[in-house]
Amino acid sequence: MPRAADLIIRNIGQLLTLRVLPERPGRPAGADGVGATEPGWLGLIEDAVVAVRNGCVLAAGSRTDVEPHLAEKQDTVVIDAAGGVVSPGLVDPHTHLLFAGWREAEFALRLEGRTYLEILASGGGILSSVARFRAAADEELLSWGRSALDRMLLSGTTTVEAKTGYGLVAAQELRALRLYRRLGAEHPVTVVSTFLGAHAVPAEYRNRPGAAAAYLDEVCLPLLPKIAGDGLAEFCDVFCEAGVFGVAESRRLLTEAARLGLPVKLHADEFEPTGGAELAAELGAVSADHLARASDRGLEAMARAGVTAVLLPVTTFTLGLRDYAPARKMLDLGLEVALATDFNPGTSPVESMPLVMGIACRALRLTPAETFRAATVAAARAVGLEGRAGQIQAGVPADLVIFEATDYRQVPYRLGTNLVRTVLKKGKIVVSEGRLRRRR
Ligand code: NIG
Ligand code: FE
Repeated sequence: MPRAADLIIRNIGQLLTLRVLPERPGRPAGADGVGATEPGWLGLIEDAVVAVRNGCVLAAGSRTDVEPHLAEKQDTVVIDAAGGVVSPGLVDPHTHLLFAGWREAEFALRLEGRTYLEILASGGGILSSVARFRAAADEELLSWGRSALDRMLLSGTTTVEAKTGYGLVAAQELRALRLYRRLGAEHPVTVVSTFLGAHAVPAEYRNRPGAAAAYLDEVCLPLLPKIAGDGLAEFCDVFCEAGVFGVAESRRLLTEAARLGLPVKLHADEFEPTGGAELAAELGAVSADHLARASDRGLEAMARAGVTAVLLPVTTFTLGLRDYAPARKMLDLGLEVALATDFNPGTSPVESMPLVMGIACRALRLTPAETFRAATVAAARAVGLEGRAGQIQAGVPADLVIFEATDYRQVPYRLGTNLVRTVLKKGKIVVSEGRLRRRR
């Protein structure tokens, strides 16, 4: 019996489902120069149709397979994809969303040769954002967050992870988590929040002996029972790096978070091989992020433990560092590799996942197909949403992007051009003709 759809997307040139499909028999190898060479997990289907009902995907597949089983109601919305590419809504699994202002002066200082960690050690960097965050009113932060989420949505992102870490005192860290909850409730983009109280040692602790340990003991650790108990955050993260929080301190915080039921993540081995990747494996972290300088042993341990590697190539690019994360080695080891913007005022004032994907091809040597996996299903895994985001399949929320492109490889290839025309969130059109639909 044909099934009635609320919305149908027709005339899809290439549909990327990111689910493994049975091999189609009889497909001539190389016939179209695309399909035959694509990895099966991309789930690439040409001349495809997607149908939506009650906010979820009802059916997705080739026109000839799906169309005969669909019925249109009087009010079914029909979208013509004009031969374009449809992918799952992009998932950005690592951002510092709320920060109350840019840091262009620091950008200029770094161009003159000061390093990121030097600027932080002298009280600038993250700490200057902390001062501004603390001084900002809720309304100011909310309007900042809304416009950042709007720009992300316009670039195809439908789910975003958002970290605290510019409050660095109990009331301000809790405020950030409450604001994330409000933003997630009112904005179409799904917001997954992470407690990153251990982002830096705040200025008021700087002159104390054992400053990092004292800050963890007095601020971060005592907050964990409330955050875990009230479900205020979905993850606990730490900036584990020489000169910030060491491995022993990070272990102490994350072990306690995990004990209380908060899954953990780490900013690991961004600047120096600190042992962060090893710690992520030891703790069974959901993800370890950055990893530009992770040791081979650490990466092998992560692969054995099933920790997702979240790579942030725009950060490496912005900081002008030579070493990018060894993405090809990670893939060879069998690690799941995800990509994220790292959206923050210091190292990545960038909201666009397609831009990250484009840089990932050039700097990390990922293939275009690998960048789509890294920005969808792998990124969903990195935020605990495997099977609920990042894939197009029946029963999963209909978060979809239509790109104005005749081939999915154009998305990372056309660096800096926004090809996103239409975005669906839970089956609702939230971007159309490349513009936000007005929300009530
Ligand atoms: O992921 N590495 C630490 N945290 C951020 C930067 C935050 C900032 O500079 O404000 C990052 O790059
Ligand atoms: Fe970060």
